[in-house]
Amino acid sequence: MSVRIIEVGPRDGLQNEKKILDTQTKVDFILMLIAAGFQTIEATSFVRPDKIPQMADAEQLMKLLANKGADLSKLPCLVPNLKGLELAQNLGVKEIAVFTATSEEFNKKNINASIDESFKRIAEVCREAKHSGQKIRGYVSTVFGCPYEGKTSLDSLKKVTQALFDLGCYEVSLGDTIGVGQPEQVKSVYQTVKSHFDSQKIAWHFHDTKGIALANIYSAYQEGARVFDSSAGGLGGCPYAKGASGNVASEDVVQMFELMGVSTGVDLEKLTAASSLILKALGRESASKAYQAFIAEKV
Ligand code: HMG
Ligand code: MG
Repeated sequence: MSVRIIEVGPRDGLQNEKKILDTQTKVDFILMLIAAGFQTIEATSFVRPDKIPQMADAEQLMKLLANKGADLSKLPCLVPNLKGLELAQNLGVKEIAVFTATSEEFNKKNINASIDESFKRIAEVCREAKHSGQKIRGYVSTVFGCPYEGKTSLDSLKKVTQALFDLGCYEVSLGDTIGVGQPEQVKSVYQTVKSHFDSQKIAWHFHDTKGIALANIYSAYQEGARVFDSSAGGLGGCPYAKGASGNVASEDVVQMFELMGVSTGVDLEKLTAASSLILKALGRESASKAYQAFIAEKV
């Protein structure tokens, strides 16, 4: 038994951090995450630097990683439009992630586009990315609730997920952007998704605002989910989702599955070392219980 964990710390984990880190620290962090065993690490995003200042060094970061001989096929990058795609392609990025939401209002705040407008951009990006042989992953935000609209619609979820698959995404990650989902809701969303799509092509992306993310992952796993996004040390948050805290911590996810006898392929000791590096650089503590317990045992 195994699960696949997508490490999103370098992108989702850092994008909301006010203290701008130097690029070399991010390179070291990503190399340590590769050494910890992650097969996929979302490295950065090619978005507007004035909107997300922490990601302004995306070009430099990808150049340094390539110079270090990092396998770029393991390092997808978030791309919102053709401009972002062009920058990513010039650097040899092999996999991109496109993103939209079930909520009109969230999309407007996040990417300055309605859902339909977002698909005009995504369609152009996917056409060019496929032409160059890049892999494409899709994200749907606000699946479990929206900071502006409240409850969101399963019909919208089905529509946008289908559209992402139609445009060539090999996998679609469903986001609990503000961490409001709960395990019973996860079950019902899973059943809806399963009745319309190949559930093995769906990933689950929980933020841990209320401390329920791990329970949500367990719930999804029990239903059959096998792919989860998480962030080293539990860093993260979306600048356009006020109050949303970090992604579920990779340490918590790895520890839970390994205790259950489900292989993650990730070395917890090496993962906590990577988290320690980035937390120290940020001057932050980790919210992850597994991280804290692991560090305490080492002292
Ligand atoms: P826009 O303002 O609509 O773009 O931005 P525009 O086409 O009107 O261009 C305006 C200016 O931005 C122009 O510059 C462009 O060149 C520039 P000017 O001519 O005025 O000097 N520009 C760019 N520069 C660099 N890279 C680009 C780019 N595009 C345009 N790619 C856009 C639209 C989406 C780009 C913008 O709103 C943006 O960057 N937003 C930030 C989105 C973001 O990163 N959000 C966080 C990630 S999503 C997330 O966290 C959720 C997720 O984790 C899942 C979950 O938890 O639910 C994935
Ligand atoms: Mg997120």
